[in-house]
Amino acid sequence: MTEQPKSFASPSEFSFDEIDEIINPAPQVTGFDEVVESAISRRGFLCGVLAFGAGTFVTGVSPQGIRLGATHAQAAGRFGFTPVAANTLDTITVPEGFNWQVLARWGDELWSKSVAFDQATRGTADSQALAFGDNNDGMDLFEANGRKLFVVNNEYTNTNIIWGNREEGKPETDDDVRKGMLAHGVTVMEIAESDGKWSIVKDSPFNRRITPETEMDITGPARGHDLLKTAADEAGETVKGTWNNCGNGRTPWGTYLTCEENFNGYFSAADENHEVSAELKRYGISSKDWGYGWARIDERFDVSKHPNEPNRAGYVVEIDPFDPESRPRKLTALGRFKHENAEVVLAANGQLVVYMGDDERGEFLYRYVSNGKYSLNGNNSRLLEEGKLYVARFADDLTGEWLELSPATTGFASQAEVCVYTRQAASKVGATTMDRPEWVAANPNKVEAYVALTNNKNRGIKPNEGGDPAPVNGPNPRAENNYGQIVRWAPDNGDHTAKTFTWSIFALAGNPLENSDANAGSANINSGNMFNSPDGMRFDENGFLWIQTDGNYSDKGGFAGMGNNQMLVGDTETGAIERFLVGPKECEVTGITWSADRRTAFVGIQHPGEDGNSHWPDGGESVPRSAIIAIRRNDGGIIG
Ligand code: FEO
Ligand code: CA
Ligand code: CA
Repeated sequence: MTEQPKSFASPSEFSFDEIDEIINPAPQVTGFDEVVESAISRRGFLCGVLAFGAGTFVTGVSPQGIRLGATHAQAAGRFGFTPVAANTLDTITVPEGFNWQVLARWGDELWSKSVAFDQATRGTADSQALAFGDNNDGMDLFEANGRKLFVVNNEYTNTNIIWGNREEGKPETDDDVRKGMLAHGVTVMEIAESDGKWSIVKDSPFNRRITPETEMDITGPARGHDLLKTAADEAGETVKGTWNNCGNGRTPWGTYLTCEENFNGYFSAADENHEVSAELKRYGISSKDWGYGWARIDERFDVSKHPNEPNRAGYVVEIDPFDPESRPRKLTALGRFKHENAEVVLAANGQLVVYMGDDERGEFLYRYVSNGKYSLNGNNSRLLEEGKLYVARFADDLTGEWLELSPATTGFASQAEVCVYTRQAASKVGATTMDRPEWVAANPNKVEAYVALTNNKNRGIKPNEGGDPAPVNGPNPRAENNYGQIVRWAPDNGDHTAKTFTWSIFALAGNPLENSDANAGSANINSGNMFNSPDGMRFDENGFLWIQTDGNYSDKGGFAGMGNNQMLVGDTETGAIERFLVGPKECEVTGITWSADRRTAFVGIQHPGEDGNSHWPDGGESVPRSAIIAIRRNDGGIIG
């Protein structure tokens, strides 16, 4: 296959990974015949996996695949709502008996000195500095001492929206660039409920914006390493800012974890012909950024001048919401890659385990295990600094193992290098290339975890950026995978620190109305619940898995009948999946958390109208704005 030359315009016209690929195409497969042969020989295996999954875990769904009927009806009763139909409306659709309201929109005021969002200009750098950021993603609510602190990622910006006041939808001034920069990061805001309405508590002493300009500390093995030293930080111990914060996690001691994903798209070089190193290339760094223009106002984003700067991004960052003066901590021990979320579980023996996906075609699934053990009222500050990092290898016989990433296993000189060049380390040990690992969710009622593998059009076509082959394999069973799947694993001996596990496919998304076995999806996908590109995932306290999508919303061709991006609920015992919510036009649904009383579910709606066809949430001719919504039952009952 020959890569067609494409011209790059702005982040709004392509998805992140499309942009990445345009700028930095992956190497071509040389043994094409070999890949095709492998895909064909696996067709039988694919059926085997699904039958096994259905028979072993999905007890309520027959291996033959009951697509509608009994399991459908039972599930509706168990979930406690009547599923909603797919649609392409420019609004939120929730089941009968539920309601929703907006908690916070991009540009909403956090302090009384903030200014109201200006529809004409879409704000300035100064107004944005005092307002809720753009494109909210992962989120969590911390309730203690009578305070409800909401912490939420502001992942990125769409150029045609934030600079929609400019003729070409691009930044024209330094202030435009800075406005965009300050719309990134994390927002901490106190919220309150009064007369059935949730709102931001303006001027709360806990309100805080953490942005690409916020000072933070580097922790873990790479702290102080030469690879992290720059002109501005000769010690390699402190860094300015966090950006492209995607999913999240929370620790047992009440801190928030924010995950740096597509950090590469912000670096550029004044000389467009500047050749970046192979190490940077593996992470998608090139001489061109994705239209944000940050190097224009801050030289550290020019990789030709500061080649170590990108080594200081791509981490998980810990934030203490209850201490507004605290410095966030970059956790290098958890590795450097395009972090999606960080799902924290406590192993039976008290060790902390963090599961993490690297969202790029053909990249990997990781696990971190702390050396120390959690102590309820003790000092847990080293648990995310000292531990072992692993990457997953899946075997086609439904077993798998965690491969340790250390100098001994990878040949790198130190653990610091492993933590900076984590992708390369994982390639060296022969990890399994995956279909873009998004969120991981651990079942609170069972020792098992789930990963959303959102899609991968390159599966069976070409290797990842490191040259690792990506043939069709067990957990990634579909060539040119446009729909995605959810894979789960159960650690051996019921122990999250175990070296080995067994795995199965919980759901292979697809369109059962398509006349193609490869695209029909697994037995628990039917015409009433079909979706594509699972992304956000989280278990509720009932043990139900909430699944959010960020996929193709064309509602055409192989995606006809799926409508806008959506949120579904899965019963991991029976395999039943039902649609709970449909988002507005051209959004993705991402991020979910609950109030402590479980009577409100907070859900993120990101980039409505990314292609210019939404006015959600305010309607009329208003600018579309990413927002967090609060969903409740009309009768005030428990939700999730
Ligand atoms: Fe920010 Fe992989 O989604
Ligand atoms: Ca995501
Ligand atoms: Ca996504």
